[in-house]
Amino acid sequence: MAGEGLQRIPEVVVNLKLYEETSRGRAVELARAAEKLSSETEVLIGLAPNPLDLWKVVEEVDIPVFTQHVDAVPVGAHTGHLSPYLLKEYGVAGSILNHSERRIGLNEISWTIGVLSEQGLVSIVCAVSPREALAAASLGPTSVALEPPELIGTGISVSRAKPDAITRAVSLVRNAHPSVKILCGAGITDSGDVERALELGADGVLLASAVARHMSPERKLRELVEGVVKARRPRSGP
Ligand code: G3P
Repeated sequence: MAGEGLQRIPEVVVNLKLYEETSRGRAVELARAAEKLSSETEVLIGLAPNPLDLWKVVEEVDIPVFTQHVDAVPVGAHTGHLSPYLLKEYGVAGSILNHSERRIGLNEISWTIGVLSEQGLVSIVCAVSPREALAAASLGPTSVALEPPELIGTGISVSRAKPDAITRAVSLVRNAHPSVKILCGAGITDSGDVERALELGADGVLLASAVARHMSPERKLRELVEGVVKARRPRSGP
């Protein structure tokens, strides 16, 4: 989705972190499967591969691809950094920021959101609590992602273990900053977890290990996307 600006935040964003199982060629295979699944289901799926896989994935598919982090630096003499100014040109849709495994300061978050938004790119700012989600939303990102760190990678879904945190974040953010989309994540494991997250008011989910470490990540992704499809179906009966 090369630098066109993304109108819609994906309902499902898969962060591949540095998991071995979906590095190298596996990231590209998964991205191709995600692209096909997206067009079959009309569920927008985004992928955040590791920095070494990123370029190949961007070249191969037309789904939103995100960096897992960017540094608050301009282009130029900055060794070992990744500048948000480069993303658009490289066809990257935007970046996750302030992930629990890559926390950054408020000034950096704010500066980076500004640079991404100037270019029409997506910022997904992670927050560990509803209050932090509200604080992050006040900086004007495209979206915030509520992720209680203690549930990350546990297989215990935020939508089941902490439903109140999701509804609280949704109400705080939506009241104060209605244009900011709300994702949630941590421990999301099956389609019911995804469906529940959307029923609680989230616009989408940010997830990792359930897909990235699965023996068949494509099959697992299909199962999880089914949760979005189900949540969209109108309820019948009283
Ligand atoms: O960025 C998503 C992540 O932190 C959630 O991880 O493995 O609990 O889905 P996981």
